[in-house]
Amino acid sequence: MYVCLCQGVTDGHIRDAIYEGCCSYREVRETLGVGTQCGKCACVAKQVVRETINEV
Ligand code: FES
Repeated sequence: MYVCLCQGVTDGHIRDAIYEGCCSYREVRETLGVGTQCGKCACVAKQVVRETINEV
């Protein structure tokens, strides 16, 4: 599922970034660019980050 259309970032990309070492929304944003354009995806992106971090 696409989370960020502006940057073409999926929930899978966000999960992979966390598995590879990102440990906050800020780090995911810096790594993938998610939420850096229109910002509409920030809420969903944060939720995916939160859920994934809770699973790790
Ligand atoms: Fe993510 Fe626009 S959809 S910045």
